[in-house]
Amino acid sequence: MTKKQKQLCIDIITWYHKEGRDLPWRKTRNPYRILVSEIMLQQTQVPRVIEKYKEFLRAFPTITALAEAKTADVITVWKGLGYNRRALFLQRTAQAVQKEFHGKFPRTLEALKTLPGVGDYTARAILSFAFDQPTPVLDTNHRKFYQRIFFGDEIRKDNELLKKAEEVITFLSASQKTWGSNSIVYHWNQALMDWVSSNSEKFILPKKTKNKKAIPFKETDRYVRGRIVDLLRTNRKVSLTILRKHFVDITDDRFAHILKKLEADQLIVRQNRSIVLP
Ligand code: ADE
Repeated sequence: MTKKQKQLCIDIITWYHKEGRDLPWRKTRNPYRILVSEIMLQQTQVPRVIEKYKEFLRAFPTITALAEAKTADVITVWKGLGYNRRALFLQRTAQAVQKEFHGKFPRTLEALKTLPGVGDYTARAILSFAFDQPTPVLDTNHRKFYQRIFFGDEIRKDNELLKKAEEVITFLSASQKTWGSNSIVYHWNQALMDWVSSNSEKFILPKKTKNKKAIPFKETDRYVRGRIVDLLRTNRKVSLTILRKHFVDITDDRFAHILKKLEADQLIVRQNRSIVLP
């Protein structure tokens, strides 16, 4: 690392100490709570996650409560977050931790990545945020930072960015040991999320591909899927005939395809000529 890069890292940590956001998942080291927050944050913005995070944990305060809950209830509480399959993955992960790991979250990257819906980023986030291991994490903001600061416009793959992240962590670990009760690496990983967001003009990456013309959201399958699950959240059971009347402007083929996919994803279950949540 150059002197300038080292100074920037120290400046970011110092900035975070004063300006970092006070977020509910930064007040816990509980791996279950960290997991819930990180799964929600995968595709949903921080302001929308804050309330849902609290609500979800009121409904399912422990990993056992989530593992043993009725899946329909988990999907119902997920309302408003979108990408409903995440609710299923979260519950399956809770069940896997109970069954395969005797109720204790594993503490290695490999084992964490065997859990449903837990990819490389989320596994590292659990190691760093719950277990305070000096592990680099690479979400969108971290990626932008390591890319821009160490490679400029020459686009690099994640393994090269992670190598740089390791260098930063080695440097920071040598310079200061702890900050409050957590290691500097914990703070560094959290700090980058806030710092990159509030300096977003510095991190506009060159486009890899041309933007495809965007389809209006209401015309996507995802929108229809979301509305079907929403109907089941309020009505419990809906007949296919009635359901069809809610979506008059889509073709029979598309309607059938969307239902089949929802069923294959196990977000809905067919009961004779009706559907219900699992
Ligand atoms: N996005 C993903 N993880 C986050 C975190 N811990 N804090 C803020 N934004 C995030």
